[in-house]
Amino acid sequence: PANRLWWKEPIHGVELGWIVIAFLWGLFMFFFMIAWHFIGDQNLSTETYRVKPAAYEEKVAAWAEQYQKIGADGEPVEVEGTPVVAPPEGGDVYILARLWEFWPVVELKKGVKYRIHISSVDWQHGFSLQPVNMNISVHPGYEHVINLTPTETGEFGIVCNEYCGIGHHTMTGLIRVVE
Ligand code: CUA
Repeated sequence: PANRLWWKEPIHGVELGWIVIAFLWGLFMFFFMIAWHFIGDQNLSTETYRVKPAAYEEKVAAWAEQYQKIGADGEPVEVEGTPVVAPPEGGDVYILARLWEFWPVVELKKGVKYRIHISSVDWQHGFSLQPVNMNISVHPGYEHVINLTPTETGEFGIVCNEYCGIGHHTMTGLIRVVE
């Protein structure tokens, strides 16, 4: 009869089968995500602190000024106009994300553990460090700290992997690792 309530209708066997499959798949994906959190480098656990964007900007600028690398000619070392900062071994490292750059360039020593701080001062960005495939989201107001020990020397690019506007594709940064 037309007045029968649809939720009282018996479920067809095939439909029930697919409901069970979908439910189990959802459960599998959930536990996969939990496992990935612990065994993968994607969306790694970070220490996170609240910070006002302006305060972070000041902190990074003061830190960069203190450890600015000076060349043999007595001039500050730069890469395409961005200062190169060489922090003390094992110290804190500050990187700032903004439209559309990572600032400054940092120079680290191989085999030394650093605490890399990262935050944005304007908008949502991504912090993707290759080739270690480390990825985190960077938001204004949140300061993330990643423990990082470089294991090889070279130049490593940071890429913004979250769309942040017209200059998104040009938003790159640099970490230099030396002996
Ligand atoms: Cu910053 Cu995309």
